[in-house]
Amino acid sequence: METETQKNNSHYSLISPAISESKLSTYSPLKLGILASGSGSNFEAIAKAINNQKLNAQIQVMIYNNPEAKVIFRAEKWGIPSVFLNHREYKNREKFDSQIVTTLQEYDVEWVIMAGWMRIVTKILIDAFPNQIINIHPSLLPSFKGIKAVEQALKAGVKITGCTVHLVDIEVDNGPILMQAAVPILLDDIPETLHERIQVQEHKIIVSAIALAASRNQVLSSS
Ligand code: GRF
Repeated sequence: METETQKNNSHYSLISPAISESKLSTYSPLKLGILASGSGSNFEAIAKAINNQKLNAQIQVMIYNNPEAKVIFRAEKWGIPSVFLNHREYKNREKFDSQIVTTLQEYDVEWVIMAGWMRIVTKILIDAFPNQIINIHPSLLPSFKGIKAVEQALKAGVKITGCTVHLVDIEVDNGPILMQAAVPILLDDIPETLHERIQVQEHKIIVSAIALAASRNQVLSSS
């Protein structure tokens, strides 16, 4: 059973780097393309942040590969174009990624956000958007890469886990880390309860990390 102190601490989290929202403004609106295949709560967090003017961006398109994904309804609700690409119709990962690149370019996307994208990406996608592809993963990387990261953390018995937003490179769940949030694991956590608390943090850091990545690039390109 959880103690009272653990209960009280259960919503504690630590986000690093801690950046104030005012430091995250970008000069011109970022043109985002979102790759998603699940519930789309991160998609929703990004759309809300844009709507509340916390993120200077526009979602140009949402690409999904799972026809059952709830994210489709979220895109519809926000009036954001969505495109279904079925990976099963392509001969290999490269051909699939090449179609993704074509679609992203058609919609004039600058930044690609993998928000619950469950496919391994290839050089084709990475080279088309150098250092401009962002992924969110439900663990403190480099721990617990790959699928079922929340289950992996519970099984390992770690006491703190969390989520990571990073730039994507050719290895799965690798690449420079932009931002992380730590989430304590409670004694009676099951994957669902823990994932729910991790997602609360995901929705914060995905927004800040997009702005952080973009503002870093702007500094680099203007120096
Ligand atoms: C998130 O936990 C994310 O870290 C992982 O997939 C999940 C997507 O959730 N890559 P949602 O579809 O954004 O709700």
